[in-house]
Amino acid sequence: MGNFVSSSDGLLARFTIPRFYTRLSSDDNGYINRASSVVSRSPFLIGYFFGILLVILLTIPIGLILFMKLNTSHSTTSIGTTLLKQPLTSHDSMTTTTVSSHLSARTITTTSKFCSIPAINAIWSQSSAVVVNPLGKCSSDENSLCSARDFFLDNIHNTLYIADTDNNRIQKYSLNENYNQSEGAMGITVAKNGLLCPQSVFVDIHTEDMYIMDLDKMESFTQYGHVSYRVHLWKKNENVGRILLSQTTEQGFSRNIHHLALDNQMNIYVGTTYFIEKWLASTNYAGRIIVTGKNNDSPSYLRNLRNPGTFFITDDLTLYIADWQNKLIQQWKANATTGEIVIEFLSNVQGITMDCNGYIYFLDGSTGKICQIDMVEGQSREIVDFKNIDGTSILIQPTMIQIDKLGNIFVLGKQQVYKFPLVHT
Ligand SMILES: *[C@@H]1O[C@H](CO)[C@@H](O)[C@H](O)[C@H]1NC(C)=O
Ligand SMILES: *[C@@H]1O[C@H](CO)[C@@H](O)[C@H](O)[C@H]1NC(C)=O
Repeated sequence: MGNFVSSSDGLLARFTIPRFYTRLSSDDNGYINRASSVVSRSPFLIGYFFGILLVILLTIPIGLILFMKLNTSHSTTSIGTTLLKQPLTSHDSMTTTTVSSHLSARTITTTSKFCSIPAINAIWSQSSAVVVNPLGKCSSDENSLCSARDFFLDNIHNTLYIADTDNNRIQKYSLNENYNQSEGAMGITVAKNGLLCPQSVFVDIHTEDMYIMDLDKMESFTQYGHVSYRVHLWKKNENVGRILLSQTTEQGFSRNIHHLALDNQMNIYVGTTYFIEKWLASTNYAGRIIVTGKNNDSPSYLRNLRNPGTFFITDDLTLYIADWQNKLIQQWKANATTGEIVIEFLSNVQGITMDCNGYIYFLDGSTGKICQIDMVEGQSREIVDFKNIDGTSILIQPTMIQIDKLGNIFVLGKQQVYKFPLVHT
């Protein structure tokens, strides 16, 4: 989940992504007004029109003069903003979709932050290598997985952590080492003692401490009861963790994917059936608030989530959520009471992540594609197509997606990890 660095005071800081998105207008019911409001008073309209015309007529010559002056003086103090070009499709069969007219072209401040992934027109291999468990068998041996539900990529140490759910353990893999192609990467168990069906793992990539969400009992044994989710803090190299918090869940919780993530203030976020709950570090994880979705509300999907798959949190505490059963991606700004649609009419999106350029990546398991969203341009483009000719997915039950600092995309399937390398042209 991006570059997660920690400062000496123990606070975490994510990559800084410039954000100049305007808030979408929403009506009283929390729905986004998708058509911009029409000006109905025509005298004002005419006034506006001539006003704007006058401004344009005045701006062009001034702009030309400034431009010529800048060019002739060879000024080294260039303007600190650059306009990203429209992303082009990398492949004929791939489509570019407009994300939302409200998130249309805007300038982005160039930062000194280094990101080695090309910002424009990056191309990925359309075929993947199986990095973990090439035979795909459900087994508890060190190099296998069994019904893994979530994974996390540590971009400092170049390691991958997998919530190996049905093996009741967390597996860790080094992405630096060469491995035997027929056996896959070598896994080591880094957490097991006391874990039951771990759902999600998040790593403080400075300390390598793990935050693990698991269950207190198997739901199948408690037909009419409820399970609780638990969050364990598992310090690096320790063979037992400690439970930070525990919370009763809605019925049927364990049937779906649930995700855990931390923000740069060490607050813990957990996705439930309808909400994302934020457990406050300031209360030592005794207090929580619901940050997306409102209890006892109408089924308006922009207030309540429906089985969110994964989500991530940016520096300014904006949440981006793969709202799986609502078939869309939502954005919730800090303290927001309603969400904003980033992209909708998706089919099976549970995995979402962001790269060091600030592009969002999601995986649609049913349509067999990986897409990149440029929030600045307000566009989504298909970058990988993993369908067979008959339209079925080549990958086995792909759900989650992560991207490393070099731009290689990793996809978690039922019990395998696939890699789509960035193509260097
Ligand atoms: C890779 O693993 C296979 C299966 O275990 C083994 O037969 C083969 O010798 C290994 N190859 C190398 C180069 O170690
Ligand atoms: C959200 O609310 C908190 C607490 O009231 C406040 O400190 C913070 O500045 C708010 N953030 C935004 C982006 O409004």
